[in-house]
Amino acid sequence: MAGTDPAIETNGLVKVFGDNRAVDGVDLRVPAGTVYGLLGPNGAGKTTAVKVLATLLRPDGGEARVFGRDVVRDADAVRGRVSLTGQYASVDEDLTGTENLVLLGRLLGHGKRAARERSAQLLEAFGLAEAAGRQVKNYSGGMRRRIDIAASILNTPDLLFLDEPTTGLDPRSRSQVWAIVRAVVAQGTTVLLTTQYLDEADRLASRIAVIDRGRVIAEGTKGELKASVGSGSVHVRLREPGQRPEAERVLAGALNATVQLDPDPVALTATVDGHGTELGAAEQAARALAELARAGVMVDDFALGQPSLDEVFLALTDRTDRAEETTG
Ligand SMILES: Nc1ncnc2c1ncn2[C@@H]1O[C@H](COP(=O)(O)OP(=O)(O)OP(=O)(O)O)[C@@H](O)[C@H]1O
Ligand SMILES: [Mg+2]
Repeated sequence: MAGTDPAIETNGLVKVFGDNRAVDGVDLRVPAGTVYGLLGPNGAGKTTAVKVLATLLRPDGGEARVFGRDVVRDADAVRGRVSLTGQYASVDEDLTGTENLVLLGRLLGHGKRAARERSAQLLEAFGLAEAAGRQVKNYSGGMRRRIDIAASILNTPDLLFLDEPTTGLDPRSRSQVWAIVRAVVAQGTTVLLTTQYLDEADRLASRIAVIDRGRVIAEGTKGELKASVGSGSVHVRLREPGQRPEAERVLAGALNATVQLDPDPVALTATVDGHGTELGAAEQAARALAELARAGVMVDDFALGQPSLDEVFLALTDRTDRAEETTG
C-alpha cells in the first residue's frame, strides 16, 4: 500500500566521516504531503542526512526508507521519486535560464517541445521570464535560488529536498521562495526543508525535527515544540528604565521563572511555564502584572505570547549542553 507509507522513515540512521559521527542515530518519520522542517545549527548533520535520504551518500548504520523503499537496496526506485535542490547551486553558470531548464528537461526524457514549454512555464511562475535569456552567472542570489528550485521540479517529484533554500537571500527573495514551496506542496509533493532559520520552519513546516550534533534533540509540531518549553512568555515594557531591577525581581518571584533583560533598557521577557500550578498562562501573567502595579512599577505596555521558535531552540540546545555536563 504505497499510499499509506510515510514519505521518509529512518531508524537509527548513522553516517560517519572518519571518527566524526555526522548523523548519529536519527529516527525520523515524515508524513507524505507535508513540509517537514529539519532545523539545526551549522554542522548539525542536516545536509548529510539529506544526502543519505537522496541516495547520494551510503549510510553506515541504521536504515532509511523513502515511500517504503530502502535507500540502499532500492536506491533506483528512490531516485525515481525524489529531487534535490542543494545548498550550493547546481545549474550551469554559462547557460541562460532557458538553456539550463531545457537541457535538464531533455536529460529527464522530455521531448524538445515539451521541454521548452515546461521551461517557459516555470520561468514565468518563478518570476524569471525577463531573465530567461541571460546567463545564469549574471543572476542575483535570489534568482539563482529560484532557477535552482525550478530545475529540481521540472518533473514534479513526490519528495523534494530543499537544503537551505533561502540562506543568504533578502527578505523579498525569501518570501518568493516560500511561495514557491507552498505551491509545490499544494500539488502533492512532500518537502523536506533544512534551514537554520526558525521563522522559516515556523512559516512553512507542519512538523519540525531539531537536530544538533547528528542527533534529533526534539521533534513535533510547532505547537508541541513551543509547549515543551513553556506555555508562553510575558513581554513587559516599563516607563522608567530605572525600575527594571525591581520589575525583574517582582516578575521572577511572581512567575517563578528566569526573567530576560531585553536589549531595549525598558523591556523584559519572562517565561510562563504553567507547570506546577493550576493557573493558566494568561492568569499567571495577569497576577504578575498586578504585583508589578502593587510594587509601584509603571508598566507602559505588555504582551502575552507563545514562545518563539528562537526561544524553543535556545532552550533545547541549552538543555543538551547541561545534560552533557551532568552526564560527563
Ligand atoms: N564529505 C565529508 N567529509 C568529511 N566530513 C564531512 C563531509 N560532509 C560533512 N562532513 C562533516 O559532517 C558534519 C555535518 O555536516 P553537514 O554538512 O551535514 O552539516 P549541516 O547541518 O548541513 O551544516 P550547515 O548548516 O553548515 O550546512 C560536519 O562536522 C561536517 O564537517
Ligand atoms: Mg548543510
